[in-house]
Amino acid sequence: MTKDLKIKAGVVGWPVSHSLSPRLHGYWLDKYNIVGEYLPYAVKPEALGEFLNSLAKKEITGLNLTVPHKEIALPFLDEIDEVARKIGAVNVITVQKDGRLFGRNTDGIGFLTNLKTSAPIWSSNGAVAVIIGAGGAARAAIVSLLDDGISEIRLINRTRDRAEKLAEIYNDPRITVCDWQDRSKNMAEAALLVNTTSLGMKGQPPLDIDLSELPLTAVVYDIVYNPLETPLLKQAKLRGNPYVDGLGMLLYQAAPAFQGWFGRVPEVDQDLRHYILEAL
Ligand code: ATR
Repeated sequence: MTKDLKIKAGVVGWPVSHSLSPRLHGYWLDKYNIVGEYLPYAVKPEALGEFLNSLAKKEITGLNLTVPHKEIALPFLDEIDEVARKIGAVNVITVQKDGRLFGRNTDGIGFLTNLKTSAPIWSSNGAVAVIIGAGGAARAAIVSLLDDGISEIRLINRTRDRAEKLAEIYNDPRITVCDWQDRSKNMAEAALLVNTTSLGMKGQPPLDIDLSELPLTAVVYDIVYNPLETPLLKQAKLRGNPYVDGLGMLLYQAAPAFQGWFGRVPEVDQDLRHYILEAL
């Protein structure tokens, strides 16, 4: 009997139909002629444990997790890496040869690689970053910037309590929590401004912020990618600030997962960006 050598991977979410990951991984599988598949799996939160336990039986090697599974998957995993532990969420699972489930988080790598690639002048050393938001995306940004040697993070969230809780968890003197109403005032020495909220996304109000205090050299980074040019990035562009859109974070978080499962470092280039944008 010949053994099926097709490597199987996919993304689990609820719902999952909006996920761009099948299009993204499918593009790379085609491009590199890899015998593999990457499918969407719609699984309700209450059925996630059972689904994860069935991965080995289904011969699925790799799995991405999207909303709402990134945090609730943690108790079902046999092992998680240090970064996933710090972020408190996993977006990549690899089923090991012995069937054990190993979880990682590549959202922070995606965040930072996108920043460094899109704004090559960026250096975390000596820099002050202003982060808007305190959800999962903010945690990925905070962990990756702290690990990269940032000097100060000013954390600003509508619900101050959530930002305080994050500062408590990370317990790092480089994190300061600032009031939402003072968000425009805390820009003076910033080298980076990041929006990690959904404000500015299609169907959402824009992030209401005054950039007049922000140095013109500061990088403005929006993790929203639909639209690619959010009202915040339009404002940054008008002033002449360097700016980074959120599409690269999606692409660069996927690359290490693809490499781990399919054994090839995939390229992130303009053709891929256009191919993904066509689906928005
Ligand atoms: P994710 O995991 O994608 O980051 P999340 O955990 O739901 O999503 O977090 C969403 C973030 O966007 C939060 O920081 C949220 O602020 P609150 O903690 O105050 O809810 C922020 N956010 C969402 N809608 C907002 C709005 N209309 N104004 C200000 N902040 C908003």
